[in-house]
Amino acid sequence: MRFAEEFVVVPKGVGAGEPFKLRDWQVEIVKGLFPEKNRPRTGLVSLPRGNGKTTLAATIALYELFASGTLSPQVMVVAGTEQVARHTLKIASRMIELSPMLAERAHLLQASIKVPHTGGELVTAASTVAALQGFDPSLLIVDELHTVTRDDWEAATSVAGKRPQSLTLAISTPSDSDESVMWDLIQYGRKGKDKSFYLREFAAPDGCDIHDQDAWAEANPALGDFLTADGLTSVASTMREAAFRRYRLGQWVGSEDSWLPFGVWDARKSDRRLQPGEKIVLGFDGSASGDSTALVACTLDGHVQPIKIWANPRIPGWRVPRGQVTAAVDDAFSRFNVVELAADPWGWRSEIEDWAKRHGARKVVEYNTGYRNRMGPATDRLYAAVVDQTMTHDGNPMLSLHVSQTVATQTAVGAIVHKDKRNSPRKIDAAVAAIVAFDRAAWHTKKMKGRVAAW
Ligand SMILES: Nc1ncnc2c1ncn2[C@@H]1O[C@H](COP(=O)(O)OP(=O)(O)OP(=O)(O)O)[C@@H](O)[C@H]1O
Ligand SMILES: [Mg+2]
Repeated sequence: MRFAEEFVVVPKGVGAGEPFKLRDWQVEIVKGLFPEKNRPRTGLVSLPRGNGKTTLAATIALYELFASGTLSPQVMVVAGTEQVARHTLKIASRMIELSPMLAERAHLLQASIKVPHTGGELVTAASTVAALQGFDPSLLIVDELHTVTRDDWEAATSVAGKRPQSLTLAISTPSDSDESVMWDLIQYGRKGKDKSFYLREFAAPDGCDIHDQDAWAEANPALGDFLTADGLTSVASTMREAAFRRYRLGQWVGSEDSWLPFGVWDARKSDRRLQPGEKIVLGFDGSASGDSTALVACTLDGHVQPIKIWANPRIPGWRVPRGQVTAAVDDAFSRFNVVELAADPWGWRSEIEDWAKRHGARKVVEYNTGYRNRMGPATDRLYAAVVDQTMTHDGNPMLSLHVSQTVATQTAVGAIVHKDKRNSPRKIDAAVAAIVAFDRAAWHTKKMKGRVAAW
């Protein structure tokens, strides 16, 4: 705190040119990150836009470089893209330029800062495995964690922690997806069991009115200070509600057009697994190369579990191994009591004919997922079961990812699901196969119940 006030100058915006005086809530964060003893190894701070996240991170970076006493401090800033990471570097460089005491002790380079008397350096990188090779940071800063993938987070954190004392500090607004590394970490931190993990969230109360100024103040500690209220007022009426809640109120609400409400799919996860010989319906959505191919099972009482999902590993020229798909279909028929396999025929007609020959034409049926009058009600059926908590699934990560990437358009016949955009790498095929399997399983259940009633 003393370092900031004595050597750091606010580089721009409100208070520009004045000494950087940490606010009480910033002091609280800093104390949480640097307690007298038992220092956390990981810190996560969730803050809405404009509350000085990047500026605070840059200040902590300078402290590490100049004054922490760490031998040869290495600060590494990573983000979803190197451009975002460079932003922190720029702010740190600007702070040094504005402070004669720091400026005479540092070399400001295009892509790094060097501090000879401590042997320190600050570097930036995109958070990919290749870019991170050979680093040994004492402080790893991840700006806007919500843009970082799980793989990249693992790559970044695997280089940190080599020293006996090092800190990984992630600072971000919430993500729009419950299939994000940030959401994983928030849930982990909220449990509060790991003393080496520091979490501080600033958010408005769940379900608050978006025009409620008290809620704004709760989420935005800098409001009325270096964050002005009129900026918020103008976007409150023009921004889409989900985006406003996420970016400006720090709430976890999912994206504006995602098919399911935030967190409801996760909540339906169960330990149940398909039993040999169990009655199931299979849903199939196939592709040739671009999208994924999915074979998903649903029991007659609404438990969803993928049999297998084939995803393009992003290798050019990759084709779905059609032989393997047929083998998986045959295997499912041998292990379970398959009541029906409902398959989207697009690009797979000859295989479907072949499966029908082997497993019975009455059991292998075509299900056109492009036919709205059928798909709309089917999609609403699974939606209702998830929200009403009358279905379960096995927590398969790929299916959960596809469900979270599924976007919906509401129509008169029900929700029509699609990818966020054409040719998007965010696949949804397993979700489509789950909708089909669930729809047909519900149909068979109803048919059987009818029969029971007739007796
Ligand atoms: N005590 C302070 N802490 C942080 N920033 C301050 C402080 N006082 C003034 N400021 C100014 O407030 C602004 C904060 O912007 P900054 O980019 O750090 O916020 P952010 O939360 O990273 O925003 P974004 O979500 O857009 O990335 C900067 O212009 C900074 O100079
Ligand atoms: Mg920022």
